[in-house]
Amino acid sequence: MRTLTRLGHQLKAKSTSRPKVPTLIKTPPTTAGMSTSTAGTNLAALLRGARETLVLEERAIPSPGPDEILVRNRAIALNPIDWKRQAFGIALPSNKTTILGSDVAGEVVSVGSNVASFSSSSLSFAPGDRVLGSASAMVSGNLDHGAFQLYTLLSSTAAAKIPDAVSYPEAATLPTAMGTATIALFHNLGLPLPSTSTSTSTPTPTTTTGEAEVKKDGILVWGGATSCGSAAIQLARLAGLSNIYATASPRHHALVQSLGASTVVDYHSPGTAVEDILSAAGRDGVEIRYAVVNVGDNDAFAAVKHILERSSQGKEGKKMKVASLARWPEEQVAKPEGAEVSWVMGMEVWGARKDLAAWLFNRNLTGWLEGGQVVPHAVRVVKGGIGGLQTALDQLKAGVSGEKLVVEV
Ligand SMILES: NC(=O)c1ccc[n+]([C@@H]2O[C@H](COP(=O)([O-])OP(=O)(O)OC[C@H]3O[C@@H](n4cnc5c(N)ncnc54)[C@H](OP(=O)(O)O)[C@@H]3O)[C@@H](O)[C@H]2O)c1
Repeated sequence: MRTLTRLGHQLKAKSTSRPKVPTLIKTPPTTAGMSTSTAGTNLAALLRGARETLVLEERAIPSPGPDEILVRNRAIALNPIDWKRQAFGIALPSNKTTILGSDVAGEVVSVGSNVASFSSSSLSFAPGDRVLGSASAMVSGNLDHGAFQLYTLLSSTAAAKIPDAVSYPEAATLPTAMGTATIALFHNLGLPLPSTSTSTSTPTPTTTTGEAEVKKDGILVWGGATSCGSAAIQLARLAGLSNIYATASPRHHALVQSLGASTVVDYHSPGTAVEDILSAAGRDGVEIRYAVVNVGDNDAFAAVKHILERSSQGKEGKKMKVASLARWPEEQVAKPEGAEVSWVMGMEVWGARKDLAAWLFNRNLTGWLEGGQVVPHAVRVVKGGIGGLQTALDQLKAGVSGEKLVVEV
């Protein structure tokens, strides 16, 4: 947690240098007992410190630990934290060298001993399976767990099989977005988990009084066109919530509505957005008690505060809850009165909330993709393979709108 607090502060620093074109450094592949593979040569984009350009380097192909799978990546998606780590030196190990990236899709090459023994369970993976997964190097510090390379070791609880109809680039848009939204909704907000999917059916409505009450409440998803916000809307819908209020640029309104938002408003005039959302909730006869904030913008925090406080004005009983993907900036914007505000730690999918990761990746995501209940984010492919990752980082830093940058490898 100390590291993460530091992350938040370092994010405010300014980057000055401009990354250059990556160069290839050939190093003899290291061999460590069973850790090399004959399947080919690994090629990685290494970050050697803050503001350093990615360097291409040959690495050994690792072998999976007992609970891991080795994946030959075919598509790697980028996340904002990737360019921020490069620009600001956030969450780098003590020797400053890391392999960025959390999102991969590709083919299973080999599986660890425990995974092999799960042959009939939801944790079952076998060589040749098409999978997507959440790569954990940012937390583990192990370069083999980084996404920006041809071969990545994934935890079996953070991997899901990909249906045939979903391409590798599409699949790569999902791990961080879906994992983070799962933590936000079902850990931070404490919403009841929807029932486990089958490939074709929508979840069966749950019947307990508490769950029925929650489903009547409204949820605000600020930043509905972000990849995490899109995932949060879809998961909220799957959890049975029908009053989902979102913000996005007008060109994304139809898409955000198709994902499950009942009302979408433009955020560019935050004051108007507040009034529009409150009017819609008033018409629906709904109190907005939950919010997921997917941007680190002070106007957004202020708008969320107004919406929650006014939507529940004068009413007592249930607590309001806010899950924020960025730290709530208390120094500039007071927290909503009466609300429990928490900072989402998506990385818990590799830690304390492995149970939620397994629920999402092993038991539900594949079925939801097959049944169309979850759709991938829009993809923009950046050319150049592993060597194109620096260009992709630069493009992501410049800003994206409603799409995920993906490199095919
Ligand atoms: N805490 C965690 O564990 C965690 C995990 C993942 C991500 N994050 C953070 O969460 C944020 C979202 O990540 P992401 O990958 O989902 O982002 P993203 O997809 O790259 O976000 C791009 C979108 O942001 C929207 N946007 C920008 N400013 C906005 C505003 N003021 N109000 C509403 N929408 C706005 C834009 O929407 P329009 O196109 O509609 O204008 C754009 O499409 C990032 O800051 C990221 O670092 C945190």
